[in-house]
Amino acid sequence: MTAQPLALQTTLQREEPMDSDKPFIRVENLSKVFHLGGARRMFGLLPPTSGQKGFTAVDDVSFEVKRGQIFVIMGLSGSGKSTIIRMVNRLIDASDGTITVDGKDVRSLAPAALRDYRNRTINMVFQHFGLFPHKSLVDNVAFGLKVRGVDKEAREAKAAEALAIVGLGDRIHALPDQLSGGMKQRVGLARALATDAEILLMDEPFSALDPLIRKDMQELLIKLQQNFKKTIIFVTHDLNEAMYLGDKIMVMKQGKNVQCGTALDLLEAPADPYIEAFVTEVDRSRVLTAGMIARRTARHGTAGQAVDLPASSLARVPEGTIVHDLLPILAAGADPVEVLDEQGAIIGKITAGDVFSALSPSKGNSNNAA
Ligand SMILES: Nc1ncnc2c1ncn2[C@@H]1O[C@H](COP(=O)(O)OP(=O)(O)OP(=O)(O)O)[C@@H](O)[C@H]1O
Ligand SMILES: [Mg+2]
Repeated sequence: MTAQPLALQTTLQREEPMDSDKPFIRVENLSKVFHLGGARRMFGLLPPTSGQKGFTAVDDVSFEVKRGQIFVIMGLSGSGKSTIIRMVNRLIDASDGTITVDGKDVRSLAPAALRDYRNRTINMVFQHFGLFPHKSLVDNVAFGLKVRGVDKEAREAKAAEALAIVGLGDRIHALPDQLSGGMKQRVGLARALATDAEILLMDEPFSALDPLIRKDMQELLIKLQQNFKKTIIFVTHDLNEAMYLGDKIMVMKQGKNVQCGTALDLLEAPADPYIEAFVTEVDRSRVLTAGMIARRTARHGTAGQAVDLPASSLARVPEGTIVHDLLPILAAGADPVEVLDEQGAIIGKITAGDVFSALSPSKGNSNNAA
């Protein structure tokens, strides 16, 4: 079997990335109440849930992010997503709760430590990746590293590596104006991932893009992430994007965390009708992967743990293969297929029946009940 094309790799393949089980970012009982001005109150411009004290934009939210994960915050407009990441970055102060990053209490950082945290630990990525028009692509991408004092050779090597990943390895000395809009977006993404900050906060970075460029950027983010291994908090309105990118997804509604889990958790056990309504819109064949189904089958006792690769006449697929791409393999008569993890060990077998059952909505999936 040839190497899995990037586009086919989705999130559960990266279910437990990297080594540590310890959360890198831990948010506990976080709340934000905005105290609104008298004029807005007087003219009745307050949101309906405003109490006397103010408006609760984030309400007792807790979550954990492990090193190397992509943690997606998803929810409708006004649900508090940006407010959360602004509190993590301390652009705004929380009203209550704790934020711990790598063991440090972010809310109590003194000014010098806060500067260091913002400059070295965290990189905030905005929707418009503004590039310096007079700098070459390599200088644009290396800029963040230059500011942090990384020497020329090292920063240019890293920038060139990132540009190669986004398909611009042969254009590193071009100027931004010589590129198309989509290419500029790629450079911006390369720059975001090539910094030495361990954490990236990305607030709807792709939402203004047309669908084709957006898909391209999602794939490139995964590809860059495989190389640079950041810890990412990614905000989006779009559940398909959330499921494609997120190792974990937290769904917000009116400031509250309604459910936090993997794409599969949300698909199979939506916590309430709000999430159920969202997941019916999802194209399951493009979210579910062979790995997810094999693992689930294993939970129900019909497949084993990873074992070394014995000779077999069965077709084998990498665990990141999305069901959409698995269907033609099954249709060609391979049933069951064996599923391999990143190390090439077998994590299970799946049959056409397993696939069809996974594709039907959770209510019809009674055989999957624990
Ligand atoms: N500085 C502020 N003062 C008062 N209210 C605010 C302030 N910032 C945000 N809010 C309110 O808090 C709520 C959550 O805002 P937030 O920007 O976090 O939402 P969001 O989920 O990021 O929405 P969107 O998807 O539209 O970006 C909204 O009702 C917003 O009006
Ligand atoms: Mg927002």
